[in-house]
Amino acid sequence: MATERQVNKPEKTKLPPVAALSALEAAAEVAELHRQIRRHDILYHQKDAPEISDAAYDALRRRLEEIEQAFPALAAKDSPTQNVGARPAREFAKVRHTVPMLSLANSFSDEDVTDFVARVRKFLLLPETAKLELLAEPKIDGLSCSLRYEKGILVKAATRGDGEEGEDVTLNIKTISSIPQKIPKDAPEILEVRGEVYITRRDFEKLNKTQEAVGEKIFANPRNAAAGSLRQLDPRITAQRPLRFFGYALGEVSKDISSSQDGIRQKLAKWGFEVPEPAAVVDSAEKLLKFHAKIYEERPTIAYDLDGVVYKVDSLDYQKRLGFISRSPRWATAHKFPAEQAETILHKIVIQVGRTGTLTPVAELEPINVGGVIVSRATLHNEDEMTRKDIRAGDYVIIQRAGDVIPQVVRSLPEKRKKSSKPFVFPDHCPDCGSRAVREEGEVAKRCTGGLVCPAQAVERLRHFVSRLAFDIEGLGDKIIREFWDEKWLKTPGDIFRLAKYADILKEREGWGEQSVINLLEAIEERRTISLERFIYALGIRQVGQATAKKLAQRYENLENLLSQMKECKDREGEAFQALMDIEDIGPAVAEDVVNFFAEPHNQRVIKDLQSELTIKNYERPKTAQSPVTGKTVIFTGTLSKMGREEAKAQAESLGAKIGSSVSKNTDYVIAGEDAGSKLKKARELGVRILSEDEWLGIIQ
Ligand code: IVH
Repeated sequence: MATERQVNKPEKTKLPPVAALSALEAAAEVAELHRQIRRHDILYHQKDAPEISDAAYDALRRRLEEIEQAFPALAAKDSPTQNVGARPAREFAKVRHTVPMLSLANSFSDEDVTDFVARVRKFLLLPETAKLELLAEPKIDGLSCSLRYEKGILVKAATRGDGEEGEDVTLNIKTISSIPQKIPKDAPEILEVRGEVYITRRDFEKLNKTQEAVGEKIFANPRNAAAGSLRQLDPRITAQRPLRFFGYALGEVSKDISSSQDGIRQKLAKWGFEVPEPAAVVDSAEKLLKFHAKIYEERPTIAYDLDGVVYKVDSLDYQKRLGFISRSPRWATAHKFPAEQAETILHKIVIQVGRTGTLTPVAELEPINVGGVIVSRATLHNEDEMTRKDIRAGDYVIIQRAGDVIPQVVRSLPEKRKKSSKPFVFPDHCPDCGSRAVREEGEVAKRCTGGLVCPAQAVERLRHFVSRLAFDIEGLGDKIIREFWDEKWLKTPGDIFRLAKYADILKEREGWGEQSVINLLEAIEERRTISLERFIYALGIRQVGQATAKKLAQRYENLENLLSQMKECKDREGEAFQALMDIEDIGPAVAEDVVNFFAEPHNQRVIKDLQSELTIKNYERPKTAQSPVTGKTVIFTGTLSKMGREEAKAQAESLGAKIGSSVSKNTDYVIAGEDAGSKLKKARELGVRILSEDEWLGIIQ
């Protein structure tokens, strides 16, 4: 849930022992306890704004139970003690998206946009004379959702979540009046409409005024207000919020509704959805840029917050051919507006230690509103950047924030600097464990050499391990991890799955209580089964993000195979290492990091320990029909004539083939176009089967 657990102290008023109460006193106290417990239930479940800790709440219930036992006549049927289970899980059910909800690649400059259009044209091998139409429309700064209609009726609504699995917000979505509950008969039997839940700027101001008047939480910006309003466990609260929805894409559909993106827009509008306005279909990068400039200028007059413009290839045929690259479509890009800047005071420079030991300077700022978001910390990147910009504690600084990236300090204003100010001296020891911090050749940052003894690194690794895209364990927040680490309950990831043994001690802790311990342990239990890709990502291997983790899972399919192949990789000349480097996007540097990670004895122990606690699911290949090239490793070389190299690779992948990057004995086919060079030669040397483009097409068709 959005609200952090409140850790107010339980009231310490001394209550008389139950045995000392007269029947009259007991009755009065029972009535008061009913009133209090009900009030806290409402605050907790319906308002998402608890005022007391779970421990204090449990104490109230325990007191009531004690009195009811001593005075059975006072145990009313409607007593709060009669609903067992107390506070139900504060979570939404999960929904798996049948078609993943992806994100968009970003463009920041005009050049990025021209590159995008050129890339699309090249991929599709469009001759200069051929027209390429693109739809441009505002990028709404809200919360993406997928609405599923079956036989014309809205049956399910889910948030994006990690793109594969979101939260079931059906009841909440049904309270939004601009969302059709039913769509006409001509709509396909299954239709998922994807779009953005948002609040207009005017409604946001009004909402905050109401919130203030009733002493409720003030939202920082319309996006937060929309997110907070949608993610309410009680839909009655959502119903009171001015939420709206823009439809801009489709998920699963049982039948195509149009052959163009603009056609989809029009159909959605006809069926009663709001669609982002203004929009335009244009045929060149220049016209896209003009549209962007116009929207940027009009931005202050547009009713809702937008953070850029989205460009989408209009033809759905082209979209299909272009497909996806890791988590975003090749056929679209988000052209962001320039970053918003503001001036503030930098109070202090602190050094943060990352999970791989990197020391990052961070500025603690006088909090300031930058484009609707309150910023109180900003990154200073690294020692060199900071020295180059001569940024010091006490300086007035310009900070900037663009979209969802971390706010940054752009420069300081030395003219406003006090005479006594001194340059910051970057430490040569880790601020947490005191080990030496060194900067290796070619690196931009100093790294703590404390390794396994450094608490900051260990805690950061654990944080990463439980983070949303990894194990996603709700309730194990940053502070709690550090607390458990200091207690020595949590040293390595495997310890998370053994926390139950501290349940009794934890229950008695201030800020905890029976129910919150149960909630935490349940959240942990739920994650004992995990997908291979999440598992790999959670390990926190340097340079291995979500996309690379998925690629590794795809290639090795199960943990045992991955581990044994990594052992084989010791021989950097061998086939296993070659196969690792054959994975798209894994170059020599990433491959080194991956292999070194698995070769490290400590990491081996961590993994072994986790294997004994977890069920790690084998990678599930999306159900593409078997094709003659499923599982084959293929390499394209030279110029192809029927389609671009990128499209040929994407097509091969969609048929289940693996794309290699350099020819080895593991390669099944080398498809040689015109002017093929060294790869063709190597294939001949190794006796790998060589195909012409036509022979290849013959096999796959
Ligand atoms: S199209 C395959 N159109 O921006 C993805 N997205 O930063 C198709 N967004 O995840 C998305 N306005 O939640 C599209 N007009 C618009 C949008 C839009 C906002 C969101 C969307 C996406 C995110 C990426």
